[in-house]
Amino acid sequence: MFFGTKDQLFLRADIHSHLIPGVDDGVKTLEQSIEIIREFQKLGYSKLITTPHISESHYPNYPDTLRKGVLIVMEELSKQGINMEIELGAEYMADGAFLKLLKEDGDLLSWQGYVLVETGFSNYPLIFDEIIFEIKAKGLHPVLAHPERYGYWFGNTKSIKNLRERGVKMQVTASSFVGYYGSDQKKMAKSLLKESLIDFIGSDMHSYDQMEYLKRGLASQYLRKLDLEKLLNESLLT
Ligand SMILES: [Fe+2]
Repeated sequence: MFFGTKDQLFLRADIHSHLIPGVDDGVKTLEQSIEIIREFQKLGYSKLITTPHISESHYPNYPDTLRKGVLIVMEELSKQGINMEIELGAEYMADGAFLKLLKEDGDLLSWQGYVLVETGFSNYPLIFDEIIFEIKAKGLHPVLAHPERYGYWFGNTKSIKNLRERGVKMQVTASSFVGYYGSDQKKMAKSLLKESLIDFIGSDMHSYDQMEYLKRGLASQYLRKLDLEKLLNESLLT
């Protein structure tokens, strides 16, 4: 079945964004966060999983700080009468601290059975396989953030296919389809789409400026033809 229109892919749930003020390289203020969420609403979204970075080297965020942050955003939404469901997740860097957290059964920000993980852009981390194993051992599903952006995979969808066959869900970013991150990334996004290796389309929204590229991505010739039944986005609506 085809759910979109010929003008745009319509999604109602997003799984990747940086909308908690001041905790990572995403929005800086509550006003910016609300401004972006209003735009998501206009696009037809009704649920956003927001996923602040957690990494040992750059963003050693604590879950409780992030929980407080998301509550502030939710309170402001309700004050302004904006109807948008927000759920807290995290974008975990595949580093030693994350592996330790998993092994020690620490406070993990998973959402609806999923855990969002990213790697550095130039090297495939050797501990990634172990991280996948640990996430799955908890009965959760690992989701790899923007597989199309990793330089170590450019021109090679085989490794992504292998990982996916091992249970790693793939989240491709909408704006990659219009070259927001570069031409190699666009090419990879197109290949992943062609080979049906995409599980989620995410926004990876950091700032209001990026909203324009999300819109362009959703309206791109590639995504507007995508069958929503091939995506898991809609399954997140409860
Ligand atoms: Fe992100």
